[in-house]
Amino acid sequence: MKVLMYGGTGSQAGPTVKHLLRQGHTPHVLTRNLDKANELKGAGGVPVVADLADFDRLRAATREVDSVAFLLPAFLDNPGDGLVFGRNAVDAAVQAGIGMFAWNASGEVSEDNSESNTILQIFRHLQDSGLPFVVFEPTTYMENWLGPWTAPSVRNRDELSYPVLADRKIGWIASDDVGALVVAALERPELAGNRYRISGVETPTGPQLAALFSGALGRDIHYRTMTPEQMGAVLDQEFGPGAGDGVAEMYRQEQEDPDPPTKYHDMTSVLEALPVKMSTITDWVKAHKEAFVQ
Ligand SMILES: NC(=O)c1ccc[n+]([C@@H]2O[C@H](COP(=O)([O-])OP(=O)(O)OC[C@H]3O[C@@H](n4cnc5c(N)ncnc54)[C@H](OP(=O)(O)O)[C@@H]3O)[C@@H](O)[C@H]2O)c1
Repeated sequence: MKVLMYGGTGSQAGPTVKHLLRQGHTPHVLTRNLDKANELKGAGGVPVVADLADFDRLRAATREVDSVAFLLPAFLDNPGDGLVFGRNAVDAAVQAGIGMFAWNASGEVSEDNSESNTILQIFRHLQDSGLPFVVFEPTTYMENWLGPWTAPSVRNRDELSYPVLADRKIGWIASDDVGALVVAALERPELAGNRYRISGVETPTGPQLAALFSGALGRDIHYRTMTPEQMGAVLDQEFGPGAGDGVAEMYRQEQEDPDPPTKYHDMTSVLEALPVKMSTITDWVKAHKEAFVQ
C-alpha cells in the first residue's frame, strides 16, 4: 500500500513512517525540505516536496497513493493556517478518491464550538467529505518528557517536573504506539468511520510516574508539579518571548479545574480492533535513558 504521510519527518508522525516500512508499505513522505527528502530516499521512503499550503501539489501527491495518514504539525509558522491546511489535505484526498484517511488529531477533538477550535472544524470537514476515515485522539505523549521542561530536571536534579498536579492520573502514550495503531487502521478499511480515544495502558499519578522512572534509571527520582508560569517561561526561553503563553494558560485552567476531563482511556476494545503491543513506561524510559543521565 502507498501512503501519503503528513508530518512524517517530525516527532509525532515519524514513527508511523517506520511502522509503514516495517509492514512492507511505501510511505510517500511530505516535506518542505530537499535535504530531508534525500535522507528519506535512503530510508526507503518516497520523498514528496510540498507545503501544506499548496493545494495543487497536495492533490498531485495524493493521486499517487492509496491512503493518507494526516497530521497537523503542532507548531505552525502562522497558527491561523491550520484550518486551511487541514481542508487542503481532506479535499485533495476527496479528489484523488483515496481508500482510507487516517488522522492523528494529536489530542482529543473537543466539542468546544469556539472559532479558534481548528481541530473540531477540520473534523467536521472530514465528516462531511464522505471520505472513509479513522481518527485517533491520543492523550499525552511520553515524548513530552524529552522536552526542556522535564529531561534536564531529571538529569541534573533527580526531579521529574511537569505542569500537572501530583494526584492526577495520565495515560501517557508512546508516539511509536500511535504510529503502530495508525498503520493497523490503514490496513483495515472495514474500520472506516471510527474515532479512537487512545492512551497508554498504565495510568500513574505524578509520584507513581517518578517511581517508574526510579526503577528504570536505578536511582531515586521524585515528582514536582511545575506552575503554569514556570512551564510558559521554559517555552519562552526555548522558542522566543510569548511562545509559552497559550500552553501556560491551558495548564492554568487544567490545574484550577477541580474536575478536569480524564487523561486516560480503557484500551481493551481499541486493542481488540487494532492488535498492537503497547509500550510500558519502564521500557520507554530505558530506551531513552541517555536523555535522563548526566
Ligand atoms: N498530545 C501530546 O502530547 C502532543 C500533541 C502535539 C504535539 N506534541 C509535542 O509537540 C512536539 C512537536 O511535534 P510535531 O511532530 O508536531 O512537530 P515537529 O517534530 O516539529 O515536526 C513538524 C512536521 O510537520 C511538517 N510541517 C510543518 N509545517 C509544514 C507545512 N507548512 N507543510 C508541510 N509540512 C509541514 C514538518 O515537515 P518538514 O519540516 O520536513 O517540511 C515536520 O514533518 C513534539 O515534542 C510532540 O511530542 C505533543
